Amino acid sequence: MRGGGSDPVREAARLLAERRNAVALTGAGISVESGIPSFRGAQGLWGKYDPMEYATLHAFMRSPGKVWEMLSEMISVCGFASPNAAHAGLSALEKMGVVRAVITQNVDGLHQAAGSRRVIEYHGNLDELICVYCWKLFETRKRWVIGEVPLCDCGQILKPNVVLFGEPIPWPAQEQAEEEARTCGVLLVIGTSAQVSPACDLPRIAKESGAAVVEINPEPTQLTRSVADVYIPGTASDIVTRLVGLLKHPSPGTGGH
Ligand code: OAD
Repeated sequence: MRGGGSDPVREAARLLAERRNAVALTGAGISVESGIPSFRGAQGLWGKYDPMEYATLHAFMRSPGKVWEMLSEMISVCGFASPNAAHAGLSALEKMGVVRAVITQNVDGLHQAAGSRRVIEYHGNLDELICVYCWKLFETRKRWVIGEVPLCDCGQILKPNVVLFGEPIPWPAQEQAEEEARTCGVLLVIGTSAQVSPACDLPRIAKESGAAVVEINPEPTQLTRSVADVYIPGTASDIVTRLVGLLKHPSPGTGGH
């Protein structure tokens, strides 16, 4: 792992300016500053809800009403959240021609709300509900009311169109994400603990294909030593805002726009 001299943010800005065709891979950490708790860690959702009981397809098929306790909380929290400076910064980097796509594990829709246009939703999103019996799709806001379990026209309980443990990644998202990882110049990995496969394989795929991997996270992860070329300890909003500033107003050594 390179530290980029004394300032890894400048090193990351230099890589982005030189190579330009960057892709971001984001996780729950990027939405923490929007008020959405992450999954792991002290305040994480999986501390309150055991994922084996609340977040597997098997658990949903066995007791959908129970799984909806967790899902209702997620939909409510995400529904009240707004994009933060990190989401806005990635959208700005796309408009500047620096970032070409965002691959997100998040289901909160905040990248799109911030104006990012090319967003690959690796784990689906909460906007839609799907019937796992007849595959009919519904808009969540039209079909779900808080405190109730939404039903399909066929009478079965609907599931948000998100990936639960035990479900495959939607094929188009997986294919597009791997293609982006294989062909990008820089992969910006922001706010993910990199513990969930296959999303956690994308940084290694990018690196093996020649990309520089820049990791932004207040805590080191398993990627920090093994895969990251540049590790930037810090919060997503602070670091992404600084990167946008450096790329908009380059100084010698940063290259830039
Ligand atoms: P995690 O909760 O596992 O990890 C969140 C990461 O964000 C941690 O590494 C934190 O250190 C970091 N973090 C916290 N605050 C941050 C901030 N302000 N700025 C930047 N980083 C911060 O979340 P994910 O890695 O996204 O999947 O979890 C991956 C998947 O596990 C989720 O998509 C979900 C979950 O189970 C499914 O439900 C299928």
